[in-house]
Amino acid sequence: MISRTPAKAILFGEHAVVYGEPAIAMAIDLYSHVEVSKSEEFLVDGSPPEPRYHSYIIKAYEMSGLKEKVNIKIRSHLSASSGLGSSASVTVGTISTLFALKGEWSKTEIAKTSFDVEYAVQGRASPVDTSTVTAGGFVIVSRESYGKPIWEIEKNGIKWYVSSLKNLNQEFIIANSGVRGSTGNLVQKVYNFVSKNSFGMDIIREIGKISMESIKYLEERNLEKIGELMNRNNKLLTILGVGHEKTSKIIDSVKDFSYGAKITGAGGGGSVIILPKNEEKVKEILERSKIKYYLVRPDLNGVVLIN
Ligand code: MEV
Repeated sequence: MISRTPAKAILFGEHAVVYGEPAIAMAIDLYSHVEVSKSEEFLVDGSPPEPRYHSYIIKAYEMSGLKEKVNIKIRSHLSASSGLGSSASVTVGTISTLFALKGEWSKTEIAKTSFDVEYAVQGRASPVDTSTVTAGGFVIVSRESYGKPIWEIEKNGIKWYVSSLKNLNQEFIIANSGVRGSTGNLVQKVYNFVSKNSFGMDIIREIGKISMESIKYLEERNLEKIGELMNRNNKLLTILGVGHEKTSKIIDSVKDFSYGAKITGAGGGGSVIILPKNEEKVKEILERSKIKYYLVRPDLNGVVLIN
Protein backbone atom coordinates (compact mmCIF):
# COMPACT_ATOMS: atom_id res chain seq x y z
CA MET A 1 0.00 0.00 0.00
CA ILE A 2 1.53 3.32 -1.09
CA SER A 3 0.32 6.91 -0.60
CA ARG A 4 1.57 9.90 -2.51
CA THR A 5 1.17 13.25 -0.74
CA PRO A 6 1.99 16.74 -1.98
CA ALA A 7 3.87 19.41 -0.05
CA LYS A 8 2.28 22.77 0.64
CA ALA A 9 3.07 26.46 0.43
CA ILE A 10 1.23 29.06 2.48
CA LEU A 11 0.33 32.10 0.40
CA PHE A 12 -1.14 34.18 3.22
CA GLY A 13 -1.76 33.92 6.94
CA GLU A 14 0.86 31.62 8.50
CA HIS A 15 1.19 32.11 12.26
CA ALA A 16 -1.98 34.27 12.34
CA VAL A 17 -3.96 31.10 11.60
CA VAL A 18 -2.85 29.65 14.95
CA TYR A 19 -4.85 32.51 16.56
CA GLY A 20 -7.92 31.80 14.45
CA GLU A 21 -7.23 34.21 11.58
CA PRO A 22 -7.76 32.90 8.04
CA ALA A 23 -4.88 31.44 6.04
CA ILE A 24 -4.65 30.53 2.37
CA ALA A 25 -2.43 27.71 1.24
CA MET A 26 -1.90 25.55 -1.81
CA ALA A 27 -0.75 22.02 -2.30
CA ILE A 28 2.32 21.95 -4.57
CA ASP A 29 3.69 19.33 -6.93
CA LEU A 30 6.55 18.14 -4.72
CA TYR A 31 5.71 14.79 -3.19
CA SER A 32 6.45 12.34 -0.43
CA HIS A 33 5.69 8.63 -0.79
CA VAL A 34 4.85 6.37 2.12
CA GLU A 35 4.72 2.60 1.69
CA VAL A 36 3.43 0.30 4.39
CA SER A 37 3.86 -3.46 4.51
CA LYS A 38 3.07 -6.03 7.22
CA SER A 39 6.00 -6.89 9.43
CA GLU A 40 6.97 -8.88 12.56
CA GLU A 41 7.62 -5.66 14.47
CA PHE A 42 7.01 -1.92 14.06
CA LEU A 43 9.77 -0.61 11.78
CA VAL A 44 10.58 2.58 9.88
CA ASP A 45 12.63 1.98 6.75
CA GLY A 46 13.44 -1.50 8.02
CA SER A 47 14.82 -0.46 11.44
CA PRO A 48 13.25 0.22 14.84
CA PRO A 49 12.05 3.84 14.82
CA GLU A 50 14.09 6.51 16.57
CA PRO A 51 11.94 8.95 18.58
CA ARG A 52 14.32 11.80 17.75
CA TYR A 53 13.94 11.41 13.99
CA HIS A 54 10.60 9.67 13.59
CA SER A 55 8.35 11.46 16.09
CA TYR A 56 5.57 12.13 13.55
CA ILE A 57 5.58 8.58 12.19
CA ILE A 58 5.57 7.00 15.65
CA LYS A 59 2.64 9.22 16.72
CA ALA A 60 0.81 8.56 13.43
CA TYR A 61 1.13 4.81 13.93
CA GLU A 62 -0.11 5.12 17.54
CA MET A 63 -3.05 7.34 16.58
CA SER A 64 -4.07 5.31 13.51
CA GLY A 65 -5.42 2.62 15.82
CA LEU A 66 -3.94 -0.11 13.59
CA LYS A 67 -3.29 -3.27 15.58
CA GLU A 68 -0.93 -5.05 13.18
CA LYS A 69 2.81 -4.40 13.14
CA VAL A 70 4.07 -2.71 10.00
CA ASN A 71 7.18 -1.53 8.24
CA ILE A 72 6.75 2.08 7.09
CA LYS A 73 8.96 3.17 4.22
CA ILE A 74 9.31 6.92 3.61
CA ARG A 75 10.54 8.51 0.39
CA SER A 76 10.58 12.28 0.53
CA HIS A 77 12.67 14.74 -1.44
CA LEU A 78 11.59 17.60 0.77
CA SER A 79 14.03 18.96 3.28
CA ALA A 80 12.79 18.96 6.85
CA SER A 81 12.10 22.38 8.40
CA SER A 82 12.02 24.06 4.98
CA GLY A 83 8.55 25.54 5.44
CA LEU A 84 6.99 23.31 2.78
CA GLY A 85 5.14 21.01 5.11
CA SER A 86 7.44 18.01 4.89
CA SER A 87 6.28 16.70 8.27
CA ALA A 88 2.61 17.24 7.35
CA SER A 89 3.17 15.47 4.02
CA VAL A 90 4.79 12.45 5.68
CA THR A 91 2.20 12.40 8.48
CA VAL A 92 -0.76 12.53 6.07
CA GLY A 93 0.89 9.89 3.84
CA THR A 94 1.43 7.60 6.83
CA ILE A 95 -2.12 8.03 8.17
CA SER A 96 -3.56 7.57 4.67
CA THR A 97 -1.69 4.30 4.13
CA LEU A 98 -2.50 2.96 7.61
CA PHE A 99 -6.19 3.87 7.21
CA ALA A 100 -6.23 2.15 3.82
CA LEU A 101 -4.83 -0.97 5.50
CA LYS A 102 -7.68 -0.77 8.02
CA GLY A 103 -10.18 -0.33 5.16
CA GLU A 104 -11.23 3.10 6.50
CA TRP A 105 -9.92 5.58 3.95
CA SER A 106 -11.63 8.98 4.15
CA LYS A 107 -9.99 12.34 3.52
CA THR A 108 -11.93 14.00 6.34
CA GLU A 109 -10.70 11.42 8.86
CA ILE A 110 -7.16 11.54 7.43
CA ALA A 111 -7.09 15.35 7.81
CA LYS A 112 -8.45 15.20 11.38
CA THR A 113 -6.16 12.45 12.65
CA SER A 114 -3.11 13.96 10.92
CA PHE A 115 -3.79 17.28 12.65
CA ASP A 116 -4.04 15.44 15.99
CA VAL A 117 -0.64 13.89 15.26
CA GLU A 118 0.95 17.22 14.38
CA TYR A 119 -0.61 18.89 17.41
CA ALA A 120 0.61 16.14 19.75
CA VAL A 121 4.19 16.30 18.41
CA GLN A 122 4.45 20.05 17.90
CA GLY A 123 2.28 21.63 20.56
CA ARG A 124 0.39 24.76 19.47
CA ALA A 125 -0.57 24.43 15.77
CA SER A 126 -3.32 24.95 13.23
CA PRO A 127 -4.68 22.39 10.76
CA VAL A 128 -3.50 24.39 7.72
CA ASP A 129 -0.58 22.16 6.69
CA THR A 130 -2.24 18.78 7.20
CA SER A 131 -5.55 19.86 5.63
CA THR A 132 -3.91 21.43 2.57
CA VAL A 133 -1.83 18.39 1.68
CA THR A 134 -4.82 16.10 2.30
CA ALA A 135 -7.26 18.15 0.19
CA GLY A 136 -4.98 19.42 -2.61
CA GLY A 137 -5.54 22.63 -4.58
CA PHE A 138 -6.11 25.99 -2.92
CA VAL A 139 -7.51 25.96 0.56
CA ILE A 140 -8.71 28.53 3.06
CA VAL A 141 -8.59 27.61 6.74
CA SER A 142 -10.60 29.97 8.92
CA ARG A 143 -12.77 30.33 12.00
CA GLU A 144 -15.76 31.31 9.89
CA SER A 145 -16.93 29.07 7.14
CA TYR A 146 -16.11 30.33 3.67
CA GLY A 147 -18.62 28.83 1.27
CA LYS A 148 -19.30 25.17 1.89
CA PRO A 149 -16.48 23.71 3.99
CA ILE A 150 -14.89 20.44 2.91
CA TRP A 151 -14.44 19.60 6.60
CA GLU A 152 -14.33 21.18 10.04
CA ILE A 153 -11.72 20.56 12.68
CA GLU A 154 -12.08 21.29 16.37
CA LYS A 155 -9.42 21.41 19.08
CA ASN A 156 -9.52 22.89 22.58
CA GLY A 157 -12.65 24.88 21.85
CA ILE A 158 -11.32 26.34 18.57
CA LYS A 159 -13.11 25.32 15.40
CA TRP A 160 -11.51 25.71 11.98
CA TYR A 161 -13.41 25.42 8.73
CA VAL A 162 -11.48 24.17 5.72
CA SER A 163 -12.83 25.21 2.31
CA SER A 164 -11.55 24.92 -1.25
CA LEU A 165 -10.82 27.99 -3.36
CA LYS A 166 -10.60 28.28 -7.12
CA ASN A 167 -7.34 27.01 -8.58
CA LEU A 168 -4.95 29.81 -9.49
CA ASN A 169 -3.32 28.07 -12.38
CA GLN A 170 0.07 29.65 -11.83
CA GLU A 171 3.70 28.73 -11.50
CA PHE A 172 5.56 29.91 -8.40
CA ILE A 173 9.21 29.75 -7.47
CA ILE A 174 10.14 28.48 -4.04
CA ALA A 175 13.62 29.35 -2.88
CA ASN A 176 15.13 27.50 0.03
CA SER A 177 17.36 29.57 2.32
CA GLY A 178 19.09 26.43 3.55
CA VAL A 179 18.48 27.60 7.13
CA ARG A 180 16.28 25.24 9.12
CA GLY A 181 13.52 26.81 11.15
CA SER A 182 11.82 24.75 13.85
CA THR A 183 8.05 25.26 13.49
CA GLY A 184 7.40 24.52 17.18
CA ASN A 185 9.99 27.08 18.34
CA LEU A 186 8.81 29.74 15.89
CA VAL A 187 5.17 29.32 16.87
CA GLN A 188 6.30 29.73 20.50
CA LYS A 189 8.36 32.79 19.57
CA VAL A 190 5.30 34.46 18.02
CA TYR A 191 3.25 33.50 21.09
CA ASN A 192 5.82 35.23 23.35
CA PHE A 193 5.79 38.29 21.09
CA VAL A 194 2.00 38.49 21.08
CA SER A 195 1.83 38.03 24.88
CA LYS A 196 4.41 40.74 25.57
CA ASN A 197 3.42 43.42 23.04
CA SER A 198 0.10 45.18 23.22
CA PHE A 199 0.13 45.60 19.42
CA GLY A 200 0.97 41.92 18.84
CA MET A 201 -2.65 40.93 18.27
CA ASP A 202 -3.10 43.89 15.90
CA ILE A 203 -0.40 42.46 13.65
CA ILE A 204 -2.08 39.04 13.76
CA ARG A 205 -5.44 40.61 12.81
CA GLU A 206 -3.84 42.65 10.04
CA ILE A 207 -2.45 39.46 8.54
CA GLY A 208 -5.94 37.94 8.72
CA LYS A 209 -7.30 40.93 6.79
CA ILE A 210 -4.68 40.39 4.08
CA SER A 211 -5.77 36.77 3.69
CA MET A 212 -9.39 37.83 3.29
CA GLU A 213 -8.49 40.59 0.85
CA SER A 214 -6.47 38.18 -1.28
CA ILE A 215 -9.46 35.93 -2.05
CA LYS A 216 -10.91 38.38 -4.55
CA TYR A 217 -7.58 38.86 -6.30
CA LEU A 218 -6.89 35.14 -6.41
CA GLU A 219 -10.28 34.63 -8.06
CA GLU A 220 -9.64 37.45 -10.54
CA ARG A 221 -6.09 36.23 -11.09
CA ASN A 222 -4.82 39.74 -10.40
CA LEU A 223 -1.11 38.98 -10.07
CA GLU A 224 -0.11 42.60 -9.33
CA LYS A 225 -2.46 42.75 -6.32
CA ILE A 226 -1.59 39.25 -5.12
CA GLY A 227 2.09 40.22 -5.20
CA GLU A 228 1.43 43.44 -3.30
CA LEU A 229 -0.38 41.53 -0.57
CA MET A 230 2.45 38.98 -0.40
CA ASN A 231 4.90 41.84 0.22
CA ARG A 232 2.69 43.35 2.91
CA ASN A 233 2.20 40.00 4.59
CA ASN A 234 5.96 39.51 4.60
CA LYS A 235 6.56 42.82 6.39
CA LEU A 236 4.14 41.81 9.12
CA LEU A 237 5.78 38.39 9.51
CA THR A 238 9.10 40.17 9.94
CA ILE A 239 7.61 42.31 12.73
CA LEU A 240 6.41 39.11 14.41
CA GLY A 241 10.05 38.02 14.49
CA VAL A 242 10.03 35.10 12.06
CA GLY A 243 12.20 36.72 9.42
CA HIS A 244 15.82 35.81 8.81
CA GLU A 245 18.63 37.69 7.10
CA LYS A 246 18.95 34.92 4.48
CA THR A 247 15.28 35.03 3.47
CA SER A 248 15.25 38.86 3.51
CA LYS A 249 18.23 38.85 1.17
CA ILE A 250 16.50 36.46 -1.24
CA ILE A 251 13.29 38.52 -1.21
CA ASP A 252 15.23 41.70 -1.82
CA SER A 253 17.29 40.21 -4.63
CA VAL A 254 14.25 39.19 -6.74
CA LYS A 255 12.00 42.17 -6.09
CA ASP A 256 12.54 43.88 -9.46
CA PHE A 257 11.53 40.74 -11.33
CA SER A 258 8.61 39.50 -9.25
CA TYR A 259 5.08 40.63 -8.38
CA GLY A 260 5.75 39.74 -4.78
CA ALA A 261 7.69 37.44 -2.47
CA LYS A 262 7.39 36.37 1.12
CA ILE A 263 8.46 33.87 3.71
CA THR A 264 6.26 30.80 3.45
CA GLY A 265 5.56 28.56 6.45
CA ALA A 266 7.01 29.06 9.89
CA GLY A 267 10.01 31.19 8.79
CA GLY A 268 13.20 31.64 10.84
CA GLY A 269 14.96 30.70 7.59
CA GLY A 270 13.05 28.06 5.65
CA SER A 271 11.64 29.02 2.26
CA VAL A 272 10.51 32.03 0.29
CA ILE A 273 7.60 31.91 -2.15
CA ILE A 274 8.04 34.12 -5.19
CA LEU A 275 5.36 35.10 -7.70
CA PRO A 276 7.63 35.77 -10.67
CA LYS A 277 7.09 38.50 -13.26
CA ASN A 278 10.18 37.48 -15.19
CA GLU A 279 10.80 33.83 -14.38
CA GLU A 280 14.10 33.57 -16.26
CA LYS A 281 15.56 36.57 -14.44
CA VAL A 282 14.48 35.28 -11.03
CA LYS A 283 16.02 31.89 -11.78
CA GLU A 284 19.23 33.52 -12.95
CA ILE A 285 19.51 35.60 -9.76
CA LEU A 286 18.92 32.58 -7.53
CA GLU A 287 21.40 30.49 -9.48
CA ARG A 288 24.03 33.20 -9.26
CA SER A 289 23.62 33.27 -5.47
CA LYS A 290 23.64 29.44 -5.35
CA ILE A 291 20.17 29.35 -3.81
CA LYS A 292 18.33 26.06 -4.25
CA TYR A 293 14.90 26.63 -5.77
CA TYR A 294 11.89 24.73 -7.07
CA LEU A 295 9.50 25.73 -9.84
CA VAL A 296 6.16 24.59 -8.51
CA ARG A 297 2.59 24.34 -9.72
CA PRO A 298 -0.53 23.63 -7.66
CA ASP A 299 -1.27 19.95 -7.01
CA LEU A 300 -5.00 19.41 -7.36
CA ASN A 301 -5.33 15.88 -5.97
CA GLY A 302 -4.02 16.03 -2.42
CA VAL A 303 -3.15 12.67 -0.90
CA VAL A 304 -3.82 9.67 -3.15
CA LEU A 305 -3.38 5.94 -2.86
CA ILE A 306 -1.28 4.78 -5.77
CA ASN A 307 -1.22 1.11 -5.00
C1 MEV B 1 3.52 26.30 9.44
O1 MEV B 1 3.55 25.78 8.13
C2 MEV B 1 2.35 27.22 9.62
C3 MEV B 1 2.23 27.89 10.98
O2 MEV B 1 1.15 28.81 10.89
C4 MEV B 1 1.99 26.88 12.09
C5 MEV B 1 0.61 26.25 12.02
O3 MEV B 1 -0.31 26.81 11.43
O4 MEV B 1 0.47 25.16 12.60
C6 MEV B 1 3.48 28.68 11.32
